[in-house]
Amino acid sequence: MSITLTGIEFRPMTIPENIDAADAADFRAMADVRNAIYRHVSGHDDHAMTAAALLPHYRPDEYERRMSWLVLERGRPVGRLGLDLPIESASVVAFLLVELLPEVWGHGIGTGGLDLLEAVARANGRSILQSWTEHPDRPGPRLEPPTGFGSVPADDPAARFLTRHGFTLEQIERCSALDLRASGDDVQRLLAAARDAAEGYRVVQWVGPTPPEYVDGYAWMKSRMVTDAPSAAMQFDEERWDAARVALHDDRYLQADQLVQVTAAQHIGTGELCAFNELVIGVDRTLASHQEDTLVLREHRGHRLGMLVKCAGLLTWREVAPESPRVITFNAEENRPMLDINEAIGFAPISYEGAWKKVLSDGG
Ligand SMILES: CC(C)(COP(=O)(O)OP(=O)(O)OC[C@H]1O[C@@H](n2cnc3c(N)ncnc32)[C@H](O)[C@@H]1OP(=O)(O)O)[C@@H](O)C(=O)NCCC(=O)NCCS
Repeated sequence: MSITLTGIEFRPMTIPENIDAADAADFRAMADVRNAIYRHVSGHDDHAMTAAALLPHYRPDEYERRMSWLVLERGRPVGRLGLDLPIESASVVAFLLVELLPEVWGHGIGTGGLDLLEAVARANGRSILQSWTEHPDRPGPRLEPPTGFGSVPADDPAARFLTRHGFTLEQIERCSALDLRASGDDVQRLLAAARDAAEGYRVVQWVGPTPPEYVDGYAWMKSRMVTDAPSAAMQFDEERWDAARVALHDDRYLQADQLVQVTAAQHIGTGELCAFNELVIGVDRTLASHQEDTLVLREHRGHRLGMLVKCAGLLTWREVAPESPRVITFNAEENRPMLDINEAIGFAPISYEGAWKKVLSDGG
């Protein structure tokens, strides 16, 4: 669906074969506006990704339909819309984003974009819209989620926009950074203590692709991320992970030239993988690293395995990506066990994201 409103076009995105292809201009423009918007909102470039790194993550697959639009004002790219539709089950959820360059805020373009996304979500049988967005701090009234943990400034433009359009704030995600230029001594000490507590477990590590002997264990842990991590009232479908999905996941990162290091805890008696941590860096190894999934399976909690895999991962990471200045991570603000680990390691908060949800009524 393409809509044109007084000089504004929401143009459906073509996913090109490669980033230099003749039809790749819109995709490259989408990456440029994405990075400019994040730089404006966050005040730094740690969330930036090149078009080449984004492209593999936009390729169609059997688990999720990713739809995107480039927003143009009189032919000039000024933003992007995104709608992700899980398709592995009879899902009713959709994940969306509306992101515009600041110079065009306040002209009704965001409202038009959201109308388009809601219509497409409805047409695809979705009734729950969800979105995450960073809210830079500012003085004034606060909005709190029902979890009771954290808040965002109610006067932030994105908070105003989402509230006015019927979204409710459900959860706060804390974004934290660990300075990798500081000494790693604390991490060494914490790792030694975690090893003592984690009797009966050992650390195994790999850099993607996943070695054959760990594929089943890794697939099982990945499938448990959506069920075992705190998600407040945000709604997620169960995910089924098997060898084919792990291979697709690994291939995406390889194609994007992103290096993924997985550090896992293995139960020595059974060989089962019970906890894991992922660290990722893009093609430019001098930029920030990102800690992605970390999970201890419920039945293995209480053995310091979270601390074990994080510390073991971070220590190796200093050799894998020695020039990366810091690691960025996101955690639910109510996830005290995980925040305790990160704070002990030296992660400090740098910003907060709101997790927003809108339940569509039957009529409109
Ligand atoms: C949040 C965001 C998408 C809003 O987009 P936008 O185009 O500025 O939104 P709108 O113009 O439709 O509405 C914003 C304000 O402008 C007002 N407005 C809308 N049309 C207007 C017009 N023609 N003239 C003057 N004001 C107008 C709205 O009433 C609204 O006012 P309010 O802040 O008092 O509620 C934009 O700020 C953005 O891209 N932020 C960064 C990314 C982000 O956080 N996205 C969040 C959700 S996924």
